[in-house]
Amino acid sequence: MPTENPILPNTCFVRLNTVQTYAIPELAHEKLDALNPLRHLIDCSPIQDVKPTTETKSNIDSDTQITEGDQEDEEILRGSKKSKSELLSVLPHQHFSESDGVLDLTFSLSLNKHLQGGKEPQVSIRLIVDAAPGCGGIAWPAGQILSSYLTQTYQTTTSLSNKTIIELGSGTGLVGLIAGKLDPLCTTYITDQAPLLDIMRKNVLLNVLEDNVKAVELNWGEPVPSTVPSKPDIILAADCVYFEPAFPLLVQTLADLSDPSTLILFCYKKRRKADKRFFSLLKKKFTWAEVMDDPNRGIYNREAITLLSLRKIPEKNQVEKRK
Ligand SMILES: C[S@@+](CC[C@H](N)C(=O)[O-])C[C@H]1O[C@@H](n2cnc3c(N)ncnc32)[C@H](O)[C@@H]1O
Repeated sequence: MPTENPILPNTCFVRLNTVQTYAIPELAHEKLDALNPLRHLIDCSPIQDVKPTTETKSNIDSDTQITEGDQEDEEILRGSKKSKSELLSVLPHQHFSESDGVLDLTFSLSLNKHLQGGKEPQVSIRLIVDAAPGCGGIAWPAGQILSSYLTQTYQTTTSLSNKTIIELGSGTGLVGLIAGKLDPLCTTYITDQAPLLDIMRKNVLLNVLEDNVKAVELNWGEPVPSTVPSKPDIILAADCVYFEPAFPLLVQTLADLSDPSTLILFCYKKRRKADKRFFSLLKKKFTWAEVMDDPNRGIYNREAITLLSLRKIPEKNQVEKRK
């Protein structure tokens, strides 16, 4: 039976109590992540009867074998290990209201709370969260981390003023909404597939950001629609690497939308070894570096989350690279 999740009360913990559910580790992890993106962080009650079989282990190809992180999850799922992550300390304060289904997220604007004499400047976003239209309907930790980074750096290293910004795979729209809220002078396009449009539009209205945040359908790998600018100044993407068939589509869209001057902030949660295929595709067109000026970096890195800054390789060098 699912049990209530205290962090996102409209989602559930699921006890895996059949061998069949665990028999395909990739799918099991995807399903669990979709139901509860914070599942790695919270104590799980002991779970019995969950053991990968020899047969299933031999069915996994070398690229999709369980990683160390997965191994830890497996122990947590089996109840032999309890998880209490530091990550909760760097995510925004959040409160979910059962009555209206709205999640309130409060981000700190200051890097050093003590400098503010105890009164910490904050910015809040209200989000309708709903897992029904797909995994994007809830606020994932990577999105919260990218939002926190923007909140803490938009007045210094990541200026948003007068910038055109596109968020890919926005889900609820959180990251783009935060950008729009932080700087009314930027224009932000939060984009996702059609089933997420309704929730994104509602969240724009809920935060009274209609003037500078637009919700638009954008499917990776398809021609960029005329409703979004073809070359934005900034592209934001959080937790968009999780479904292997979409890897080339995402790289294509990143390439279509960018040139070497585009800043791409890409918050990535490593889930499985197969993710390396995404980076093999990415390196044909982009270089990347870890964003180092986030004071929370050490904490979320330990949860296999990394914030990267991507740059498109000039076309002529891409050709040379392929030779
Ligand atoms: C794990 S969710 C992350 C949502 C949000 N960025 C966050 O951090 O909370 C991945 C998002 O990618 C979107 N997505 C997946 N495949 C896509 C595609 N082919 N085109 C556009 N969006 C896609 C999903 O709909 C979903 O909203």
